[in-house]
Amino acid sequence: MNIAIPTGVFDILPEDPKDAWKSSYLWNYVEGVLREHAASYGFEEIRTPIFERSELFQRSVGDSTDIVSKEMYTFQDKGGRLLSLRPEGTASVIRSFVEKKLFAHGSQHRFYYIGPMFRYERPQAGRFRQHNQFGVEVIGLGRPEVDAELIEMCHSLYEKLGISHLTVYINSLGDKESRLRFREALRDYLRPHLATLSPESQNRFEINPLRIFDSKDERDREVVRDAPTILQYLTPECEEHFLTVRKVLDHLKIPYQVNPRLVRGLDYYTKTVFEITSGELGAQNTVGGGGRYDGLIKELGGPDLPSIGFATGIERLIQTLLLSHSKIPQRQKPDVYIIPLGEQALYRAFSLVKELRKSGAVVLQDMSGKKLKQAMQSASESGARYSIVLGENELNTGICEVKDMATGIVMKISFDEISLFFAAARGKNTVK
Ligand code: HAM
Repeated sequence: MNIAIPTGVFDILPEDPKDAWKSSYLWNYVEGVLREHAASYGFEEIRTPIFERSELFQRSVGDSTDIVSKEMYTFQDKGGRLLSLRPEGTASVIRSFVEKKLFAHGSQHRFYYIGPMFRYERPQAGRFRQHNQFGVEVIGLGRPEVDAELIEMCHSLYEKLGISHLTVYINSLGDKESRLRFREALRDYLRPHLATLSPESQNRFEINPLRIFDSKDERDREVVRDAPTILQYLTPECEEHFLTVRKVLDHLKIPYQVNPRLVRGLDYYTKTVFEITSGELGAQNTVGGGGRYDGLIKELGGPDLPSIGFATGIERLIQTLLLSHSKIPQRQKPDVYIIPLGEQALYRAFSLVKELRKSGAVVLQDMSGKKLKQAMQSASESGARYSIVLGENELNTGICEVKDMATGIVMKISFDEISLFFAAARGKNTVK
């Protein structure tokens, strides 16, 4: 019986011939760029477990969000604890920050993370039940300039990767007071339409009417089309904050659009929220998003520190990268495939391979025990740039024949110089 992969997840192979974005050499390349980018903005890595107490996400992401109410993988462990696979990274970072009392070690903190997140979503293009995020969180800075810095950071990351057709959407969700005022106005507007709303949104009406804005139900979308927006209810301080964010973005020449209906699918946000979409993707075109969440640390038992962050889905990032035809490295193939003939040559090959690998070359040594013709076939399948056959003659003369597999040209090189030769060859063999 063949056992198939579960729905909504995928394998990342060395190279997937059907779905190029599922190739590990691309993931390694992108993850390298992400780490470099994070480091250049002063972020350091944090790694948290992939499961947490369910309560953490209920309290932070919010009980009435789709993510928590419908999409979490929740289970009881053998000790009877209710745990959930993390649907996102922010809550865990803040849990760790509070638990480890990191606030005692400085007033500003910058963390980044890369790892899998789990959401039980309806499988469709661009939506997975296990997806991977690169995310950053800045703790301790409440000024609007930081919001602009992070939007710029997200935007320049995509630019660095050669992603085109980007649109930045921004909005402000205000503070508690702005939202209280808005919630009332929204309820007043929705009340006469209550019967038209989906049953789920009728439920949200009392608990959390803002969530009706991210409903996918056509009936709800129709109703909220003319609803008042939060921007009309911002307190003067929040309005000033949002204005400054826009001013800095203008100064940085980051093109953006204000979308007053952008509420994001997580409850912890305050003030600035943003999303970046790519015209290259289909319906699920949001590559990254984030925002400020000034009350969360206090809510989770820590000091009252402001925070902001964003995350980007790595699957969508790689898909967009390929669709944008950006410059990407080629899959690394062996520099050389070495075929020893006979026992003496086999032992000489072991030493030679060791020396070459030590000097940085990617080397395969034929261990198939097959005849020369078949071994040459394996050399060709491996994609190696060069092959070397080590026989009696080579051992006696100390000179081997290095064959360029593409052109068939053979060069005679002494054992002493072979490391140097491959070091020079590698320099010419990396980016497409
Ligand atoms: P989010 O918008 O829910 O935000 O997710 C961030 C990104 O993860 C999305 O823009 C999208 O690219 C990707 N993503 C989300 N769900 C899926 C899925 N099912 N399949 C594929 N990709 C997906 C957050 O999670 C926040 N924690 C971001 C944040 C950090 N806000 C502040 N700090």
